[in-house]
Amino acid sequence: MQVSDSIVERADVSLPDFLVQHSLSAEYRERIAELQPRKMMSPPAEVAMIAGIIEYLKPDLCLEIGTFFGKTALAMAEAVARNGKGKLITIDPFGADRVPDIMKGWPAEVRAAAEFRPDYSMQFFSTLEAKVVRGGITPLGVVFVDGNHAFEYALFDIMAAAANIVPGGAVITDNLEQEGPKLAVIEFLKMNPAWQFFYEGKIWQSSEITARDLRPAKGVGVIWGVLIAPNAVQVTAKGYKARGKTKTNTVFRGVRLNICFVSESMEVTLNFLSISRPHDFHIKGEGAVTQRRDFTFRLRAESGPIEIPFDPPVTLNVSRQDVNFTHQLEIALLQSGHVLLDAQEPYRLL
Ligand SMILES: C[S@@+](CC[C@H](N)C(=O)[O-])C[C@H]1O[C@@H](n2cnc3c(N)ncnc32)[C@H](O)[C@@H]1O
Repeated sequence: MQVSDSIVERADVSLPDFLVQHSLSAEYRERIAELQPRKMMSPPAEVAMIAGIIEYLKPDLCLEIGTFFGKTALAMAEAVARNGKGKLITIDPFGADRVPDIMKGWPAEVRAAAEFRPDYSMQFFSTLEAKVVRGGITPLGVVFVDGNHAFEYALFDIMAAAANIVPGGAVITDNLEQEGPKLAVIEFLKMNPAWQFFYEGKIWQSSEITARDLRPAKGVGVIWGVLIAPNAVQVTAKGYKARGKTKTNTVFRGVRLNICFVSESMEVTLNFLSISRPHDFHIKGEGAVTQRRDFTFRLRAESGPIEIPFDPPVTLNVSRQDVNFTHQLEIALLQSGHVLLDAQEPYRLL
């Protein structure tokens, strides 16, 4: 998977620092006061923070899962419009009869910054995935998860958002006072040790947060938090899978993993698969050629970038015009821990 530029590197302070500083600022309090009269579904403090994050990160693409009456979508689209770049996609499978009409009432420049799709989140992410496999990039920078609040759906939405977000991006999670989203956030953080969480004005490391911490204080109806992506590509128990078009070499002699952090000494497996398929493969199902290389090796806490030679090298007949060449790289950890790869270039085929 190719990733677009890390967004946090473009900003002056890191996203965690921004969130803490912004939550204490006069600008944030003013934004909350402006939003208060809109009678929104989500708390004004949350919506004001989402708008602040969009203006801070200036992402190419923002996503809202669950539009409903478009109250938060409006504030997100306003922030995108203020940036003068980027786009908001807001999705809701049950919104086709109301959302387009609601959006017609928005100011033209705000409407131009937003697109509504009557999609289930799974449909949305499957389409995005297909685009990535075809060699595109995944430019999601800010995602607001506020769709189906059952645990299974909330966990899917958070995991899929995280899998498609640029390094340094943000996933805002709503309704953590409800069991589904609360457990989804806790399970997500357990599985993603390099992520951080902004909640109640402070930054929590992934291992710190428990269900006890996510109990609403007296008088608080809705609780929310911001999952903060590491500024690197994280490899955990879930493994790492990258897919892409093969554009250059005719011979792959190996792969370099651009490792920037290893949490502890661990055994890992790496599987490289080169696939060539005739253009009509999807019709005839014939003529595919795959070449596979498998490795098991140990990484140590101090490991940096490493090169893994392919023996024999993988040779492609790229002179054939009627064939698509793609490759797939999978890394799996055989024990606990995590590895971080460089955000700009996680690996390079040699
Ligand atoms: C709590 S409301 C969203 C409120 C809105 N985000 C706001 O802040 O104004 C939840 C919405 O999620 C939508 N929804 C339910 N399941 C969904 C799914 N699988 N994918 C996307 N949206 C979904 C519902 O139709 C509903 O309109």
